[in-house]
Amino acid sequence: MVKSYGCQMNVYDATRMADLLGREGYAETQNEDDADLVILNTCHIREKAAEKIYSELGKLALAKRARDAEGREMKIVVAGCVAQAEGEEVLKRQRAVDVVVGPQSYHRLPDLLRQAKNGRRLTDTEFAVDDKFRALPNPSRAQIRARGVAAFVTVQEGCDKFCSFCVVPYTRGAEVSRPVADVLAETQRLVDAGVAEITLIGQNVNAYRGADQAGREWGLARLLERLAQIEGLARLRYTTSHPVDMTQALIDAHESIPKLMPYVHLPAQSGSDRVLKEMNRKHGAADYLDIVRRLRKARPDVAMSSDFIVGFPGESDADFEATMALVREIGFASSFSFKYSPRPGTPGAARDDQIDEEAKSERLAALQALLDEQRRAFNDAAVGREIDVLFEKPGRHEGQIAGKSPYLQAVHVEGPLEAIGREARVKIIAAGPNSLAGRLVSEEAKA
Ligand code: 5AD
Ligand code: SF4
Repeated sequence: MVKSYGCQMNVYDATRMADLLGREGYAETQNEDDADLVILNTCHIREKAAEKIYSELGKLALAKRARDAEGREMKIVVAGCVAQAEGEEVLKRQRAVDVVVGPQSYHRLPDLLRQAKNGRRLTDTEFAVDDKFRALPNPSRAQIRARGVAAFVTVQEGCDKFCSFCVVPYTRGAEVSRPVADVLAETQRLVDAGVAEITLIGQNVNAYRGADQAGREWGLARLLERLAQIEGLARLRYTTSHPVDMTQALIDAHESIPKLMPYVHLPAQSGSDRVLKEMNRKHGAADYLDIVRRLRKARPDVAMSSDFIVGFPGESDADFEATMALVREIGFASSFSFKYSPRPGTPGAARDDQIDEEAKSERLAALQALLDEQRRAFNDAAVGREIDVLFEKPGRHEGQIAGKSPYLQAVHVEGPLEAIGREARVKIIAAGPNSLAGRLVSEEAKA
């Protein structure tokens, strides 16, 4: 079994690891008691994420000991960004771990597992970026089907931005884009197997610069345009973006490509120019506002989502107020917000003007209250409107089906199971904090 934490890239990697090990004779299980191999696919972006992994490993170690006593094997693998950042340290801190493998080395997993025998424990956190995209095998039609209607496709990995709070450039390495032909082939294969929605993912997805077969570079806008031509593909999304790579071409794509969903996740991190500068974000609050204005001009029904960090070193009350002002000015459909967490090795962590925990908590509570209020208002505004819903699975109750709105809101309706896998028009009749309820406008689902 693979347990994944953190970003969409990890979700994607987890499925690819499962595919790879499927070829080695492993079958996927959701149940820890059945698993003779447990992979923790870890995230290093905030402190708690790494600490959670060590406590999870503590529990797994006990399970492994019990298993040993029964004469059954249980291997433990630590993958992902904690593996990359800590390397051997993980083996030292938790003796039950058999293999530590970084995101650039997943293709070596079968080999590592074969070698991890008779008490031999291994680490592989080498950076071998070049073959990263090619090394993992393609999933079968059945595997794709089992994973549902919406899928991720990696187009870009790594980051060269070096925001002063962030470990990603150190754990995921330099920016690399996947060649155009590979992205097209993978997307086509997914659509052929019944996938209707593709989210292009990358740590810095809008910095995409993939080569085509003639060696020309394509930006994300051009890639989206080409993907939109694939028949049977209903929806396109991309995440996560950086404001400085939000080109006019990409903004215009929101106007010219109807399949491109009107929902943009664009982390702002802060609304204070001073803090943004110290975060090394390379843009100010006004630039962010201007991008949103241009997006709304291109696609008036666009909704925004963002990430925010409160309590970056040196953040004053006035800086925090500037963040609140930016949030009020834009109005977000949904957002993630975090307390700043000093990450070892990053410039932010070395500063001596760290904000105390209490102030961070207070600011986070105020920001989250505002963002929650905006999310509710956004959900409430859907009531009475007709929207397209892509149905993904049976609903919780008999006779119900569930899917997603263009804005990733969960929507459930009374409807036939045959509608799963397609978009249909839905009139929204009620909004809860986490989902919308509606009724099919016509029984006929859109093809
Ligand atoms: N502390 C708190 N939040 C962080 N993020 C990244 N690094 C840190 C950190 N050191 C947040 C950013 C980023 C999101 C994925 O995680 O908001 O956009
Ligand atoms: Fe981290 Fe900044 Fe790169 Fe995003 S853009 S991954 S926050 S360094």
